[in-house]
Amino acid sequence: MYKNRKKPKVIKSILAWYARHGRSLPWRQISNPYRILVSEVMLQQTQVSRVLVKYPEFLRQFPTLRSLAGARQRDVVVAWRGMGYNNRAVRLHKLAKVVTQKYGGRLPRDIDSLLLLPGVGKYTANAILSSAFGVRAPVVDVNVRRLFSRLFWKARSTGEMRPEQEIWEAATAILPYKQAYEWNQALMDLGATICTARVPCCGVCPVASQCASRTSMKRAQVR
Ligand code: ADE
Repeated sequence: MYKNRKKPKVIKSILAWYARHGRSLPWRQISNPYRILVSEVMLQQTQVSRVLVKYPEFLRQFPTLRSLAGARQRDVVVAWRGMGYNNRAVRLHKLAKVVTQKYGGRLPRDIDSLLLLPGVGKYTANAILSSAFGVRAPVVDVNVRRLFSRLFWKARSTGEMRPEQEIWEAATAILPYKQAYEWNQALMDLGATICTARVPCCGVCPVASQCASRTSMKRAQVR
């Protein structure tokens, strides 16, 4: 496990890096829960670059949760084309119907209700709480899992990752009290752009000096 005394420094370094280098993405700095939900479902299995194209198109066609609920399933699946894993579109459509019927078209704000919705797992539920409702909730996707595995545990290879449960525990323990939303977004950016799967860019990483794997990341770029 990571050393607690390192915690404030890691948080400070990552938040400072994010303030300068964080990506400007259309689902950030918005508060519409439906729009955040759509982005998170898309990002579950599709690259950011592809989502950037499909996201505005999808929202143009289905601007509100109610409009999605009222659509034909076929049209939703067609609008999803190009992102793969079409069952996500089917589940998102079902979710819109459930939320319309059960919650009057408003996404619930508690984790237990969110987890009962079609297509919503622990990651997506926490991402909605954090991004849409300002709740201090940790998020762990594959990028965060890889980043934390390297940063807090010594990885012997670039691909080595700790079990998911262990990462959720670490993410919960380190989650800052202030700026938890920025922190979550920062972790995703750091994992996606610097602490990448095959060739991490340790030379420009804001926490390279605090990283447990710094001596074992042999394939790291030093630029
Ligand atoms: N992947 C999943 N959620 C994301 C987000 N909010 N920003 C960037 N990448 C993500």
